[in-house]
Parts: sequence; C-alpha cells; structure tokens
Amino acid sequence: MILLTGGTGYIGSHTAVKLIEQNEDIIILDNLSNSKAEVIDSIETITGKRPKFYQTDLLDIDGLEQIFKENKIDCVIHFAGLKAVGESVEKPLLYFNNNITGTIKLLMTMQKYNCKKIIFSSSATVYGTTQVMPLTENSPLGVTNPYGRTKLVIEEMLNDLHVADKEFGIVLLRYFNPIGAHKSGLIGENPNGIPNNLMPYICKVAKCELPQLNVFGNDYDTVDGTGVRDYIHVEDLAVGHVLSYNRIKTNNGIYTYNLGTGNGYSVLQVIKAFEKSNDVKINYKIAPRRAGDVATVYASTKKAEEEIGFKAQYGIEEMCRDSWNFAKTTKSYNTK
Ligand code: NAD
Ligand code: UD1
Repeated sequence: MILLTGGTGYIGSHTAVKLIEQNEDIIILDNLSNSKAEVIDSIETITGKRPKFYQTDLLDIDGLEQIFKENKIDCVIHFAGLKAVGESVEKPLLYFNNNITGTIKLLMTMQKYNCKKIIFSSSATVYGTTQVMPLTENSPLGVTNPYGRTKLVIEEMLNDLHVADKEFGIVLLRYFNPIGAHKSGLIGENPNGIPNNLMPYICKVAKCELPQLNVFGNDYDTVDGTGVRDYIHVEDLAVGHVLSYNRIKTNNGIYTYNLGTGNGYSVLQVIKAFEKSNDVKINYKIAPRRAGDVATVYASTKKAEEEIGFKAQYGIEEMCRDSWNFAKTTKSYNTK
C-alpha cells in the first residue's frame, strides 16, 4: 500500500491515477489547504477505483498514527507542502513549520510503523542561481528563498536518515516546471487567486479573467531575450514516480533524479506554442525582470534515463493543449 501525502494536489492527483492504472493500492492524505475533496471523485471517474482518503494535516501526529495503524503502508510518496515562493519570503515560519516540521512528523510515524520507503517532491529550485546548464544532479546546490530552503533541508534530513539506517529506500525527485493536465480535463492545476507561475497565468489571460500577461524581461541572454525553462508534462512527471517506486521496491539506498525534458523554451516560445495549439490569442506586454529570476534553466535527464528508464514523452504543444483543455472548463477561485 502506497500513501500519497498531498495526493489531491496537482502532481499528486496525476500520480494517483498512474499508480491505480498500474494496479497499485493507494491511500491519499491531504488537509485540503490547496486542493478540493472533489479531486477524489475525479480520480474515481478516470480510473474506476476510489482511493481511500483521509483529510489529515501532516502536523497532526495522532491523525498520522491513525492512518498507519489502519493500513499497512509500504511506501510514502510525499507531495504535501506549501509551494508559493513569494508567500514563503513573507511567512518563512509558516513554510518551515508546514514543510519541515510536517515532514519530521511524517518520518517519525513512518519509523514507528517500520515503513522505510519514501519518494520526496523536491525541486530544481535547490540548484539556486548556478549558471552552468544543463543542471546535473551533481550541480552545486544553494537556495534563494525560504520555500527552496525547506526543500534543501528535507533532502539533507533524508540523507542523514539513510546514513543512520541503511534499510531506507529514498528517492529525491527534483522537478523542473510541471505544466499540462490529464487528457480527461478532470484534474489539473487550479491555483487560488492570481497565479505566480507562467502557464496558469497564460490560461487566465486566455479565459479573459486577467487582461494581459506580463513577460518578465526581454533582455536576458537567450534566444529572444525572455526567460528559458524546462517545462514538463505532469503526466510524464507522474510516470517518473511510478518508475522511482519500482527502483526502491526491492532496493535500499538514496537516489536523486532530475525530472525534466532536457529542453528549454522561452516565455515567447511558450506563448506561441499555446496560441498555435489552442487557436487563441494571448495578450502580453514586456515588463521588468522579476526579482530572483535567472535567464535559463534546464535539466540534464541522463541519470534518470539511465537508472530508472525515465524519458519525457510529451512536447510543448501537447503541454499547452492539455493545460488549456483543463483550464477552459474549470471554475476559477478568487481571481482578483
Ligand atoms: P499542490 O499545492 O497542488 O499540492 C500539494 C498538496 O499538499 C495540496 O493539496 C495541499 O492541500 C497539501 N498540503 C499542504 N500542506 C499540507 C499539510 N500540512 N498536511 C496535509 N496536506 C498538505 O502542489 P503541487 O504542484 O502538486 O506540488 C506537489 C509537491 O511538489 C510540493 O511539495 C511542491 O513543493 C513540489 N513541487 C512543485 C512544483 C510545481 O511547480 N508545481 C515544482 C517543484 C516542486
Ligand atoms: C518559479 C519559482 C521557483 C519554483 C518554480 C516552480 C520564482 C523566482 N521562482 O520558477 O522557485 O521552483 O516557479 O513552482 O518565483 N514569467 C513571466 N510572467 C509571469 C510568470 C512567469 O514572464 O507572469 C516567466 C518567468 O520570468 C520565467 C518563466 O516565465 O522566465 C517561468 O516562470 P515560473 O512559471 O514562475 O517558473 P520559474 O521561474 O521556473
């Protein structure tokens, strides 16, 4: 039995679907701070199977214990966490408590119930502002904000845990920029309020809920001056978790993998791809650079390909098509 913390969230829900399709038994835990209980209905509609759901907070150790007592959990895929970079700068303690303390409580409960397999949602943000591309798993680490710090601290904690107990099987997955949605249009990313990230923002402009996209800088040293990122379809990302689980099913040890495509696209290239694949126009204007941004970020995908057989299948136009297919029919929350 696999426990997905944060399993009603964006990446967790897509991974839940993939695991059920692979005939794995799963349980979902989420406090619904950034997702809705209806996601469980959508997972059932897509797969024909309804996963057991606990509305529990990671900080509630009694609640965690109850889940481990009632179920024989072999592995945890740990998605739950707060993820807004700007908010983390304003409220660092909220982020340290939720993400770091929450993870400590989870790990203590796992240890108590002898569950020694965990896959952790880390981020390319742990590479800081290093300029040498592509980023390999050995590129220098460094963080620039409290959100990133929570990811790095948790990675280090998991490393220490592995040193202390060699029976642990741990995978640290460093996601690049997940976009896209399930083909059904039933699950996807639906952030509250005004989005920070590019694709949700583009979708809200396409829906005429926001007047125009601000393109943050056009004077970077890139193909057209706008920032380049490694966008990856959330469906590919979900497969990455299944492959990671296969890796630690029978192996101990700690493994770190980048999950990206290895290709970078500029903001203007993403806008063009979105317009072409969806036949809609995106209003945009060039705005000043966003503080903390770097020109170019993309992954080396070699290690994940060689060790777990991970290779992203979807291209940028399919990512844009599936993002829009979900967003155009989905109710928005609090776009101010
Ligand atoms: P999401 O917000 O959609 O999902 C996270 C889920 O965790 C939400 O459903 C939320 O309600 C839940 N949650 C948060 N704190 C909790 C707590 N204390 N107890 C129980 N549940 C809690 O985010 P996502 O995009 O699916 O991201 C999943 C993970 O991947 C996060 O850890 C995030 O930091 C990481 N990540 C995301 C991205 C990205 O761009 N989406 C990139 C890199 C890493
Ligand atoms: C951001 C976070 C990063 C986090 C990642 C995934 C910052 C500084 N970085 O990274 O820590 O891990 O999201 O959640 O917040 N862009 C625009 N206009 C917009 C939004 C974005 O031009 O309205 C540009 C950005 O400048 C960037 C690209 O689009 O060049 C992608 O931005 P975004 O989706 O926010 O991702 P990251 O910058 O990679």
